[in-house]
Amino acid sequence: MSDKPHPAERSRELHQRALRVMPGGVNSNVRLLAPPVFFQSARGCRLVDVDGNHYIDYLLGQGPNFLGHAPPDVLDAVDDASRRGMVYGAQHSLEVEAAERMLAVIGWAEQVRFGVSGSESVQAALRLARAVTGRTRFIRFEGHYHGWFDNVLVRVEDGAAAPASEGQLVSHLDDSLLLPWNDLTAVEEMLATNDDIAAVIMEPVMLNAGSIEPVAGYLEGVRRACDRHGVLLIFDEVISGFRVAPGGAADRYGVTPDLATYGKAMAGGWPVSALVGPRSMMERFGTGAVNHSGTFNASVMACAATVATLRRLVDDPPHERISARGRRLMDGLVQLAADHSLDLHVQGLPMAFHAGFGDGPVLDYRSLRRLDAARYNEFTRVLIDHGVWVAGRGIWYLSAAHEEADIDETLERVAAAMKATVS
Ligand SMILES: Cc1ncc(COP(=O)(O)O)c(C=O)c1O
Repeated sequence: MSDKPHPAERSRELHQRALRVMPGGVNSNVRLLAPPVFFQSARGCRLVDVDGNHYIDYLLGQGPNFLGHAPPDVLDAVDDASRRGMVYGAQHSLEVEAAERMLAVIGWAEQVRFGVSGSESVQAALRLARAVTGRTRFIRFEGHYHGWFDNVLVRVEDGAAAPASEGQLVSHLDDSLLLPWNDLTAVEEMLATNDDIAAVIMEPVMLNAGSIEPVAGYLEGVRRACDRHGVLLIFDEVISGFRVAPGGAADRYGVTPDLATYGKAMAGGWPVSALVGPRSMMERFGTGAVNHSGTFNASVMACAATVATLRRLVDDPPHERISARGRRLMDGLVQLAADHSLDLHVQGLPMAFHAGFGDGPVLDYRSLRRLDAARYNEFTRVLIDHGVWVAGRGIWYLSAAHEEADIDETLERVAAAMKATVS
């Protein structure tokens, strides 16, 4: 596959058909940026497209396939459970088990509400924070993504939040205050000068833009500042949850939020999300005072997939293994780039690291924007041509299904791609 263009006839034909019936030929705007390759199957860390080309996958569905594609235990659980009905519009035993398992892994939270997408659970968190505090606004951060709804979707322009979509209610952005992340003084000053702030929401490790860890003392400092001002701290763990440690970033960095949202890695690829928190806050949903609804919330499949995934993560935690392999891949990429005189900068957590062309370290959204995103995006097309499926924006996700041999093969393919790039 590496030295000659691989076949793409069937993908091209499907792309033409898709363009006729789906705007942009896709069902999520994020996918407008990816090459129009159509897949027919995936297993473990391997993807196969409709023309029979094979790829080693580091996009992992944008994160959910933390156990690899089509994990047999999750598939069996979903298959078995769904044969007894998929959605009851009422309670069932699996949702209790999913909730209990989830809370046991997370550790600090007492109750959970399941949803279908991370975007929705973030909205539930913000609504609950307003109800608990009686205040309206929230602080959020440059480069952090919290879904596609009007009040959280932003483009950052010169440090200010601008709407990122036509049709977006611009006034909804007035509810949030945008700050640079990893800057404790900025949060302290904002909280000291505004008394209408309900919550601070953040990705506790910045994974949507770069792979940037909190600097020492930052999360603890924000926690203290929130407590001082009666403001809720919300960790959006939609990417970091179950991935960066069994209990997510709260577990990894030892800082406990008031509320947290999860999605992606929690259910082996099944669409499900969650909001968790202490009973004292979450019970507002239970009394009906705060509305959180959804036809498909806690569907049988979602709960079966969550139970099976969490069972695996507890019985056979893959985190150390994934970290070791991710680290080897990161080191290998750096070495290969040096061999080919490419200024590739690689950084972050090994289970979700970031690569880009330019100088590091990347400490925040502003330094991330100094990397040459267009050039890296072009390079990812070459990687894809060489059978390494990666996101154009720089993130590399590792899964429990990436074996040592897959890392070796990836590095061989990357070496070929780099050679093709520099020649
Ligand atoms: C941190 C974070 N929050 C929220 C979301 C939105 O989740 P979803 O795409 O499931 O709506 C995402 C999606 O990438 C995310 O990364």
